[in-house]
Amino acid sequence: MELLKTPAEARAFSRAAKARGERVALVPTMGYLHEGHFSLIRLARQGAAAVMVSLFVNPAQFGPGEDLGRYPRDFERDRVLCEREGVKALFAPDVLAVYPPGFSTSVEVAGPMSAGLCGASRPGHFRGVATVVTKLLCACEPDLAVFGQKDAQQAAVIRRLVRDLDLPVEIVVAPIVREADGLAMSSRNVYLSPAERAQAPALKAALDEASALFARGERRAKRLAEAARARLEMTPLARIDYVELVDAENLAPVEIVDQPSLLALAVFFGATRLIDNAHLTP
Ligand code: PAJ
Repeated sequence: MELLKTPAEARAFSRAAKARGERVALVPTMGYLHEGHFSLIRLARQGAAAVMVSLFVNPAQFGPGEDLGRYPRDFERDRVLCEREGVKALFAPDVLAVYPPGFSTSVEVAGPMSAGLCGASRPGHFRGVATVVTKLLCACEPDLAVFGQKDAQQAAVIRRLVRDLDLPVEIVVAPIVREADGLAMSSRNVYLSPAERAQAPALKAALDEASALFARGERRAKRLAEAARARLEMTPLARIDYVELVDAENLAPVEIVDQPSLLALAVFFGATRLIDNAHLTP
């Protein structure tokens, strides 16, 4: 496995792989890898001989007061695990290689897609994500890039920007990988205290409540969201950020679930904010 530190090195690696006739896949990450990330890597390997993983804790997507400084990191462990997963190149640039002095450009997917849901409590977050993902795609020039449904809004924003900018890359979105008790895997789960961790499966339970109601024929978004809310409100350590039903593609709020929709929620446990979502498809 090659270790790449600059966009120029990433591009050279990608172009050499393509010259050998290999397809190139990129899996962007912020590291502290878990089974969710590995599922993306495995999907990437199915579609490409040359799998690149990027590992970059992107300052631009953290707001003031968020967890940039304490975001969990273990480069050596991540490096070994990537090697074990058959990754061909690990692109781990320093902040200055991505944002050199004078850096002034940003990419913004305007409108409700970035402003709603997580965008409401994290202003500027999706601008940071869109900017860094555009840069990673420009550096690595992958044929395909794999993202997780866990971050459904992020995946929607990235699909939109790839279409809008005519970027020649196929975007693949992989299903959510969960712990045995239903909690969606996340690098941030390590922040949870034992008591919080014990109650964190409430997110999945809330999605299941609403999905069961939906399966029984309920189509009113308000009622479905209420069912999820009620489950979360039974959870003493949970503080709801949002519970919303949105169109699965453009993320606009829906009132009646008569098209593929997404039930998305964000919940605080102490200072830790967890997200999860489920498709509701009539
Ligand atoms: P990170 O949180 O490290 O996640 C990297 C990728 O793994 C994302 O596409 C995310 O959706 C996916 N992922 C995380 N947990 C998952 C789970 N439980 N099941 C399936 N996929 C999961 O998302 C980011 O990093 C950053 O915003 C990034 C895209 C790298 C841009 O900085």
